[in-house]
Amino acid sequence: MIRVLFVCLGNICRSPMAEGLFRELVTRKGLDEVIEIDSAGTHGYHIGESPDERACRTMAGHGIDIEGLAGRQVTAADLRDFDYVLAMDRENLTHLEALGGEPRVSLGLFLDFARDTRVREVPDPYYGGAEGFERVYALLEDAAQGLLADIEARLPGA
Ligand code: 4NP
Repeated sequence: MIRVLFVCLGNICRSPMAEGLFRELVTRKGLDEVIEIDSAGTHGYHIGESPDERACRTMAGHGIDIEGLAGRQVTAADLRDFDYVLAMDRENLTHLEALGGEPRVSLGLFLDFARDTRVREVPDPYYGGAEGFERVYALLEDAAQGLLADIEARLPGA
């Protein structure tokens, strides 16, 4: 099993969108039994909450339902348990690095896997409008394709 954790600040916008989108790609490839996916926030403001309504609406527009996800806060144990721990921006990454512990494969910025953009941070859409969420979706989709290719290259028989 390869375990992937997406991390943002609140775990109600960017990282649950990344979780839902990446799970969709993984399901389409038939890799559900091989790749496990989760998301968490660096802060505990929204523990137990569903994703932001605007995030849900944006994802639904792309045929992906994330309404059942619930916010949780990242822990030091996550760094040991997950193979890939992928932060949405540098502030999130700094927070993760301060938790200590060594991830097994990769601790870094999710957009380092993006191939069609040089942007390296997913902008926080929380205080903006719907177009900010669409921009987030486009960046996440680019990086999700790159991440899946990276993981597939590591699978036995690849
Ligand atoms: P996220 O967005 O980190 O993408 O989930 C935010 C959600 C909540 C807050 C900030 C950003 N907040 O300040 O409550």
